Amino acid sequence: MPDAWLASYPGVREHEPLGPHSWYGIGGSARYFIELADDTALPELIGRLNRDHVPYLVIGAATNTLFATDELPGVTIKLSTTGISVDGDAVSVSAGTLMPKLAAEMARAGRAGLEFAAGVPGTVGGSVFGNAGAFGGEVKDRLRRAEVVDPQGKRQVMTAAECAFAYRDSVFKRSLGRWVITSATFSTTSEPPATVRARLLEVQKHRRATQPIEQRSLGSTFKNPPGDSAGRLIDACGLKGLQIGGAQVSPKHANFIVNLGGASADDVLALMAEMRDRVKERFGIELEPEIRVFGRAPRA
Ligand code: EPU
Repeated sequence: MPDAWLASYPGVREHEPLGPHSWYGIGGSARYFIELADDTALPELIGRLNRDHVPYLVIGAATNTLFATDELPGVTIKLSTTGISVDGDAVSVSAGTLMPKLAAEMARAGRAGLEFAAGVPGTVGGSVFGNAGAFGGEVKDRLRRAEVVDPQGKRQVMTAAECAFAYRDSVFKRSLGRWVITSATFSTTSEPPATVRARLLEVQKHRRATQPIEQRSLGSTFKNPPGDSAGRLIDACGLKGLQIGGAQVSPKHANFIVNLGGASADDVLALMAEMRDRVKERFGIELEPEIRVFGRAPRA
C-alpha cells in the first residue's frame, strides 16, 4: 500500500470523523487525518504524498465544504496555523487564522482595508483559495502575495497577479488543487482604530440582519450568476423554508442551506438539486455551486 507509512506518521489519526471538523457538522470520516498547528513539516509531507500518489485534501475550518462521502481516501490535512504580523502597510497572516479574527486584530492595530473579513466565516487559506469576499471587499483587492507549498514540496511565493483571481475563484481552485496556501500578505492603510472598528461593526450588523449566522450553514450555496443574485432567484421560486430531512432553505436568506440538526450530506445534496432545478425551470439559469462538495456529486 503506497500510503501505509502514513499510519506511523507523527500525529496521524485513522478513520477520523470529519463532522466535528466541519462547520456544518456533517461528514463521514477521513482514512488518515492530521492537524498541523505548525507548517514546518508540510513541504516534506506534501512532496512525499505526491511522489507516492497519495491523494490529499487540505482544509481549514471547512466552512465552505460539504463532506459527502463515507470515507475520504488518502490524508486530510487540517491547517491550524495561526499568526498575524504587521510590517508597515503589509500584514502577513498564517493560513489557519480565521478571517473575523484578522479583521478584529486589524481594527485594534488601526490598519484599514480588511474590514470585509469580518463577514467571511472561514480561514485565510480557504479565503485565498476561493477569493472570498463580502460587503464590497474581496481577497483579490488586498492580497499582495501568497506563500505556498508546491506539489514537489518546495515553498514558493506567488504574486496577486499569479493567483489569477476572479469572482469566488483563483488559480488554486481552477488548476493548482495540489498546491497548499500557507500564508498570505495583505496591503492595509493606516486609520484610527475607532474608524476601522466602526466599519467592521457595520459589516457584522449587516450580516446579522441578512444572513442566518446563528445557524449552521456553509454560507452561500451557489455563486451569483452574472448580474443577478442566487438568493433572489431561489427566493422568487418560493423555496424559503423548504426542508429535506434536517436541511432547510433558510427562511432568512434563500441561498443558505441551514442544518436544523441531524442533516445528512444527502439531504443537503437533494435540496441543492431542487433549488437548481426550480431556478432552471423558472428562469433558465443554471446555478453553479459555491460550496465545495467532496464525494458524491451535487446532482447525485
Ligand atoms: N435577496 C432576496 N432574497 C433572499 C436573499 C437575497 O431577494 O432570500 C436579494 C436581496 O434583497 C438583494 C440581493 O438578493 O437585493 C443580494 O442579496 P445579498 O445582499 O444578501 O447578497 P448575496 O448576493 O446573496 C453576496 C455573497 C455573500 C456575501 C454577501 C454580502 C455570493 C454568492 N454571496 O450574497 O457571500 O456575504 O454578498 O456582501 O457572492 C459567501 O460567499 O458564502 C457569502 C455569504
